Formats: sequence, C-alpha cells, structure tokens
Amino acid sequence: MSKAVSPLQSARAGYQPKLPKVLAEHGANVVPKGTVATESVADREAISKLFPNIYGLPILEFAAGAGSKSAHRVGVILSGGQAPGGHNVIAGIYDGLKAISSESQLIGFRGGPSGLLFDDHVVFDDAFVDAYRNTGGFDIIGSGRTKLEKTEQFAKVVETCHRHQITGLVVVGGDDSNTNACMLAEYCKTSGSGIGVVGVPKTIDGDLKNEWIEASFGFDTASKVYAELVGNIQRDANSAKKYWHFVKLMGRSASHIALECALATHPNVTLISEEVEHEGLTLRGLVEELAQVIKRRADVGKNFGVVLVPEGLIEFIPELKKMIAELNELMADQYFAQLNDDDDKHQFIANKLSAESAKAFSSLPATIQRQLMMDRDPHGNVQVSRIESEKLLIDIVGDLLREWKARGIYTGTFSAQNHFFGYEGRCAAPSNFDADYCYTLGYTAALLLGSEKTGYLSSVRNLTRPASEWIAGGVPLTLLMNLERRHGKDKPVIKKALVDLEGRPFQRLVAHRQEWEEQDAYFYPGPIQYFGPTEVCDRPTETLLLERGQSD
Ligand code: FBP
Repeated sequence: MSKAVSPLQSARAGYQPKLPKVLAEHGANVVPKGTVATESVADREAISKLFPNIYGLPILEFAAGAGSKSAHRVGVILSGGQAPGGHNVIAGIYDGLKAISSESQLIGFRGGPSGLLFDDHVVFDDAFVDAYRNTGGFDIIGSGRTKLEKTEQFAKVVETCHRHQITGLVVVGGDDSNTNACMLAEYCKTSGSGIGVVGVPKTIDGDLKNEWIEASFGFDTASKVYAELVGNIQRDANSAKKYWHFVKLMGRSASHIALECALATHPNVTLISEEVEHEGLTLRGLVEELAQVIKRRADVGKNFGVVLVPEGLIEFIPELKKMIAELNELMADQYFAQLNDDDDKHQFIANKLSAESAKAFSSLPATIQRQLMMDRDPHGNVQVSRIESEKLLIDIVGDLLREWKARGIYTGTFSAQNHFFGYEGRCAAPSNFDADYCYTLGYTAALLLGSEKTGYLSSVRNLTRPASEWIAGGVPLTLLMNLERRHGKDKPVIKKALVDLEGRPFQRLVAHRQEWEEQDAYFYPGPIQYFGPTEVCDRPTETLLLERGQSD
C-alpha cells in the first residue's frame, strides 16, 4: 500500500470500530454458549446425511467466561466480489487472535481460494494490518473466484494449513464461497485434520441473509454510495427537465440494492426482478409498462425522470430466463468452446436453441446477443454486470414511443441517458456501520476458532440497535443449506435470499409507487458521513430498519 494517503484516510485510520458490550468489556475472556439447536432451511434428511459431522449444531452467543489463552495460527481468504469492510474483517480477526494470545498469528492467502491451493501467503503483523484499518477494498491480500469443491482441492488446502501449523481457517465470502466453506468444514472434521473452518457473510448484493444473518457486509456502504449518486442524478434531472435517466444497479440476482436505493431516493420507476418474474412479465410487457409511465408524465409536461434497473433483470424475464438456461447448456458444449469467431458461435447457438428461445434471442439487438455469449464466471453464472440491460430498455422503449408518436398517442420527447453503478461502490471506504459490523464479524470469527468451533458462520445480530447491544456468536453453516438442481444434479448449496414480495421493504415501495412516479418526491441522501452525529453516521439501511421492524 502506498504511504501517501488522503486526509480523510488518515483521519479515518484512527477510527476505533465499536464492538458489542460483551466483547468490548471482556475481550477474549468469553465463551460461546449454545442456545437453540438447528436444522437446515430445507431438505433436512439429505443435508444431514451429506454433513454428518457438522449438521444440527446449536446457535452460539458469547457470554463472559474463561476463554482460551493458547496461541492459535489462523488462515484467512477473501473470496468473490469485493465488498466494503473486508479489511476490517481482517483487522478484527487479527485483534481477536492477539486478544487470545499475543503469540497468535494470522496468515493471509492471496488472490482468494487459489492462494490456499498454491500456498501464496503473507504473515500479518501490526504495521501491515494498521495500514488497512477502516479502508475499502480487498487489496490487502486480493480476492478470487476459484471454486473450492473437489476432494483433491480440500486435501491440498489441508496440506497447506498443516505446512503452516494452521488450526483454523476463515472464509470471507458470499453464498457460493460459504457453501464451499461448509463442505471444507465437513471434510476437515471427517479427515481428523484438526482444522476448524468459519465463514464470514460478505456480498454487496445483500442476498446472504435469513432470520439469523441479518445482513451481509458491504451492502450498507455500497448501496449508500449508489443512493448518493442516484440522488445527484435526480437533482440533475429535476433541474434540466430534459432527460430520462436509466440507472442499472449491481446485484447479480437479487434486487436488494435497487430496492434499497429506491427507498433511499424515491425515483419515478424502480424495476424489481423478483416482481417481474412473479408477474410473468414478458420483455414486451415490461417495456409497455415503462413507456406508459413515460407517456403519463409527458402528458403533464414532464419529459424527464429516473428509472432504476436491477443488474439481474434479464434473467428474471421468463422468456429470457429460459433462453439463457438453454444458452448456458450450449455454451458448456466442448464444440462451442473451440469456436473463436463470433459469427460461428452465433450460428451454432441459433441452430440449437428451441424455437421459442431462438425467437427471444433474435429479438435482442446484436450487442446484447454478443454480451450474452460472453464467458460464464467459474460458478457458471452469466456475467450480468457486462450485459447492458439499461441500454436495451432505452432502445426498445424508444422504439415503442416513436411508434406511439407516429400514431398520435404520445406527444412528448424521449431523450435518455444510461448509467451503471456497480464497481463504484464495491471498494468504498466502509460506512461506520460496515466498519463496526466487519470488525465485530472478524473478532467473532477469531473467538469461534479460538474455542475450537467449526462449521459456523460468524454472526452478529440485533443490528438496528447501537453496536453495544449487538449479539455476537455463530450460526451453523448447515442451517443455511438446501438442495438445488445444478448441472442436472441435486447439490447442497446455501439458499439465496431474493427480495421477499411480501416483506416490508418491497411493500413500502408498492405503497409509494404512484406518488413517486407522478410527483418528483425525490430524496437526496448525500454522501456517506464518517464524522458527525450518530443518527447521520450510524444509520443502517432502510431495508434493515424495515425488515427488523425499526422504521415506520
Ligand atoms: P459476490 O456475490 O461474490 O460478492 O459478488 C457480487 C458482485 O459484485 C455482483 O453484484 C456482480 O454481478 C458481480 O459480483 C461482478 O463480478 P466481477 O467482479 O467478477 O465482475
């Protein structure tokens, strides 16, 4: 890391993250107490058979007591997409381990899971960790998306850990990475390796949550960065009154970020992928609804507005979802992998798609077709961040409005700007919420491993209360698992939390939809504040406040 830092970074380096009372007062002199026994969220029989050694563990909460005093050597990886606060997770693990014993050591593996396979490591010391406290990014050790799922890979991980006398491993990741952490924990226990595995819930997408995991880290900061930008755009739109802004917001599947930004800024239109799928809206149907809003506003002289588009939308439009599923199968074909020329790829796909999907594919502009044929990520996902769905909507809505104009149905002007906010927010300096939450998650992970626990996800609950009232402990990874069909087989995976259409955040949007469409009731949240009154600096997201019943 460069020695020259900005004035904000330098002031922020001195920020001491807040911890729950029990950890702030007792440090490592705590013990995890089992509360309720658990079952997996679904497919209990199958999951219990697949994870016989770590299934059904109790929920843990820390209470004051004689904690471990022995030195521990722990390894850590950052896995998947960046999320604000990752560096504070590492600082929390480091400080938690040193609180157990000053002889403890934390070893970081570079570049994500592959760092463990190839033993690319660094041993942290005070100066190293101090340089990254309260900063955004994952650059302290980097991240990666290598899948850890094969027995040979697990054996390699154990070999690396044994080489360094590591007895505990922290996997900081999203649903895919923590699925793999769960499998690794089972493997380590079965093989008698003496290595414990604990996960930390990370992803700006906000889709790794349930009753026990209230939020994944990074969602708070990233959505606040995007909400600031959306607010600024709204102010520009309302000043110039000449553009429709279509803003795509990151979030690979779930629309939590788009929904949170809507609740924080009140734009004219917010698309929610889960609702589109639930209503079975076709692309044409969706475009007609959007064009109707634009027409209604034009009828009262408003030829401007803001539309939020969730990144994953395209995979939730039923006919496109089916087409993409077929496309994924075809692209996994060895013959396809050997094709270099775009036209040959196109030809191969067009010939093999079902008639319905071929029609859906050919209805899309060539640029989108090309984007859909780009490589999948290592987990087999379409890289939706590279698909310009906001531009697609602008094009098709524009065509329809032109048609309506020719028929005299629409008399407005439609001039659009497109935006994509994703990478702008993933490495932002963590908000106070994420700085505190991540530090506590890391500290908790260290204490869980210090008490010889394995197969847990570090958990911090009661998040809408002041940090002193947070409840730190562990949630069994198997609690989050269910079976899902992947590549023609039933696989144990962590259940993704999509937007709940019955939930309070979505219902809040529904209640205000018409008002926000018509009235330019724009809200301007402004930039994240790091210093100042707690009601400004420590406020959690609207989503969390509504989900936990703390907002009216
Ligand atoms: P994780 O689920 O791994 O945290 O990543 C989420 C995400 O930021 C998505 O929102 C986005 O679609 C994707 O990563 C982008 O991936 P990449 O960084 O590989 O371009």
